[in-house]
Amino acid sequence: MSQEERIKILADFLGVKREEVPLPSPPPPLPLENSIGYFPVNLAVANYFLIDGRDYFIPMATEEPSVVAAASHGAKIARAGGGFKTGTGEQSMLSQIVITDAKRDLDVTQFVGVASRIAQSEMPSVVAAGGGFRGLEAENKGKYLVIRVWIDPADSMGANTLDRVAEALAPLFEEATGGKALLKILSNRVTRRLAWAEVEIPAEAVGGREVATRIAEASDFAMLDEDRAVTHNKGIMNGVVALALATGNDTRALEAAAHSYAGKGGRYTPLSRWKFDGSKLNGRIELPVPVGVVGGSLKSNETAAFCLRLLRVSRASELGRIMAAVGLAQNLAALMALVTEGIQKGHMRLAARTIAMAAGAEGSLVDLVANELIKGGQIRVDVAKRILESLKEKK
Ligand code: MEV
Repeated sequence: MSQEERIKILADFLGVKREEVPLPSPPPPLPLENSIGYFPVNLAVANYFLIDGRDYFIPMATEEPSVVAAASHGAKIARAGGGFKTGTGEQSMLSQIVITDAKRDLDVTQFVGVASRIAQSEMPSVVAAGGGFRGLEAENKGKYLVIRVWIDPADSMGANTLDRVAEALAPLFEEATGGKALLKILSNRVTRRLAWAEVEIPAEAVGGREVATRIAEASDFAMLDEDRAVTHNKGIMNGVVALALATGNDTRALEAAAHSYAGKGGRYTPLSRWKFDGSKLNGRIELPVPVGVVGGSLKSNETAAFCLRLLRVSRASELGRIMAAVGLAQNLAALMALVTEGIQKGHMRLAARTIAMAAGAEGSLVDLVANELIKGGQIRVDVAKRILESLKEKK
């Protein structure tokens, strides 16, 4: 069926006309089963980002209105301290081959050479880009034998490569153990593909020493309290996931990896820490970044490809570093708002500006209408239109 035919079926099912279904009819973005169109999510750019001495526009796709403004605000403040410094370490991901009913013990060290050869032959483009096989381990877990294969997927996210290699290696270990492979799949727990970002901001830039002290306290509290740590990290992922979606990356893989990394010591902890030394506020984040700049949906998603072009990144590790900076900026903006006026006021200001613009306000009138809306407590387009009319009459 064509996309248009599918939409017609849904319209008939609902008993409405085709024009009443808010699904425009461009060609489907991906050859997805049963596609009926696009789901609109705003794509915006966060500005003010200075990362390792370079200016960036950060593309963000998100349904949450305050995310882009908050990221830009955090980046603007970080700029006062020279922006973000970032880095990455080793870039490997893990595949698991799980064997049951093994008849013989496995000395995995005997298989490194052959496993490496098989693995490398399964991923020529990854090897050409500097990635490839990085190691092999085995562990008995009760009735299960787990074989771990470490792979650097270079500039791809790696899921397809890691799954393919696990499937290609399974027969080797089935034969060696006389057992049967139960699972052959990557692990979304990512411990060796990390990025970090740091900032050092003068206290004045965040509103003074008291605010800086309170930001550090909010960070300490997140270390102590898991209920808070989860929300702290959710705020970080607001930025990380928006950038991931805009660049065509797998947002669920990032969420899974980030939250498991937050719990790596046996307790759930914040991914970022803030410290105040009396004059400078220091922030640091470290998180797993299973992301790619080639492969996956990127070939067929022109918008994602454009967003990567806008970022001027050609390596996955660069995208990972930018993600870390975006997460830290997002976190800074959230903590600043939380320890000062609270989060609602900023949200309301943004909502009021959006409604003012929807009512037709332009230029300096946007803020004037927004202020009146907030004063009146009714943030609605009809109210904004009335305010706009009366302001225009006064002029
Ligand atoms: C809302 O989407 C995100 C925050 O709750 C994050 C946080 O509390 O740090 C504001």
